[in-house]
Amino acid sequence: MKLETKYLGLTLAHPFMVGASPLADHLDSVKRLEDGGSAAIVLRSLFEEQITMTESARIHHMDPLDQSFAKVLAEFPRPETFPLSPDDYLEHLRRVKAAVRVPVIASLNGVTGESWARFATSIEQAGADALELNIYEMATDPDDSALGIEARIRDLVSDLKRSVTIPIAVKLGPFFTAFGHVARQLDRARADGLVLFNRFYQPDIDVFDLTVVPHLELSTSAELLLRLQWLSALHGQVRCSLAVTGGVATPVDGIKSILAGAHAVQLVSAILRHGPGYVGAMRDGLVRWMESKAFSSIDQVRGLIDGRATDTSLFERASYIRTLQSWTS
Ligand SMILES: Cc1cc2nc3c(=O)[nH]c(=O)nc-3n(C[C@H](O)[C@H](O)[C@H](O)COP(=O)(O)O)c2cc1C
Repeated sequence: MKLETKYLGLTLAHPFMVGASPLADHLDSVKRLEDGGSAAIVLRSLFEEQITMTESARIHHMDPLDQSFAKVLAEFPRPETFPLSPDDYLEHLRRVKAAVRVPVIASLNGVTGESWARFATSIEQAGADALELNIYEMATDPDDSALGIEARIRDLVSDLKRSVTIPIAVKLGPFFTAFGHVARQLDRARADGLVLFNRFYQPDIDVFDLTVVPHLELSTSAELLLRLQWLSALHGQVRCSLAVTGGVATPVDGIKSILAGAHAVQLVSAILRHGPGYVGAMRDGLVRWMESKAFSSIDQVRGLIDGRATDTSLFERASYIRTLQSWTS
C-alpha cells in the first residue's frame, strides 16, 4: 500500500500529522507523537507581537507603557507569560529537529508585513523543514478593504518567499468574498501550500459579570464540511499543496479529506482527546478502507471526489438548492 505523499515538496510517509498546538511543546511529547505515527510535527506559533516586543518593545508600533495605548493593548498577554520567547522557540526547534526523523514545521503567526517576518530567516537557520505562516485576522476596521487585506497577505507571502528557501504554507481563515481568488493569488506568490482553515475563536459574553470571556472548545467533525468543500473546489486549480485543519475527528474524516484533495491532514483536537497514537489509528483506518476499495496508492484516492464538476459556482449553487430540497419535516 503506497501511502507516501508529497506535501510542500517534503516527502511524508502518509498524510496525517499533528497540527500547530502545544502538543509539541516538550521533547518527550514530540517523541511520543513521532512514535504514535505523526508524519511531520508542526510546532505551536510564535506571534508577531512576541517578536516585535522583543525587538522594539512595541506591539503594532505602539508602546504598551504609553498610557494612550494602554486600553487597546491591555488584552495582549505580557511577553513573559508566553511559554517560549523567540530565542526559546529557536532553541526548541533545534532540539526537536535533533530528536525526530520526521519533518519539523515551525509556525509564525502574524498579520502585518512588517519586520517581524524577518524572523523566518532565523527559523530557517535553526533547521525547520518548512514554515507555516498563520494569518489570523478578523477584519473589523471599516476602512480596511478586502482588496487591501488580500494584497497585504499576498505581499507578506512574496516577501517571505524572497527571504527564505524553505517551503512556506499559509494557514488562513475562510472569511473572504472570493476565497478561490485569494488561493490563486497566494499560489502565484509562490506559497508552497495552503492550510484550510483557521478556526476563529469567538469570545463569549458573561451576562453576570458583564465581561467578554475567552472561549475555546475542541472541534467536531461538523466543522470539516466547509473544509471539504474548499479542498474540492481548489483541487487541480492551484499548483501548491493543500492541507486540512479543523474538524478531522475520525479516520473517516481523514479519508474524506483526501478524497476531497488534501495532501496533508492535520489533527489537534483529536490528539488532545485520544492521545498521540491516534495519528497511527488514522493511518490504519485509511489502509483498511483502501484495501476494502482495492486502492493501492494514495494518489488514486486524492481528489477522487471532484466537487468542481465543470463550473464550480454552478456546482455549489446546484448543491445548495439540492440541500434545501432534501429537508423533509
Ligand atoms: C490548545 C490549542 C492551541 C493551538 N495553538 C495554535 C498555534 O499556536 N498556532 C496555530 O496556527 N494554530 C493553533 N491551534 C489551532 C490548531 O492548529 C488547529 O488549526 C485547530 O485546532 C483546528 O484543528 P482541529 O479541529 O484538529 O483541532 C491551536 C489549537 C488548540 C486547540
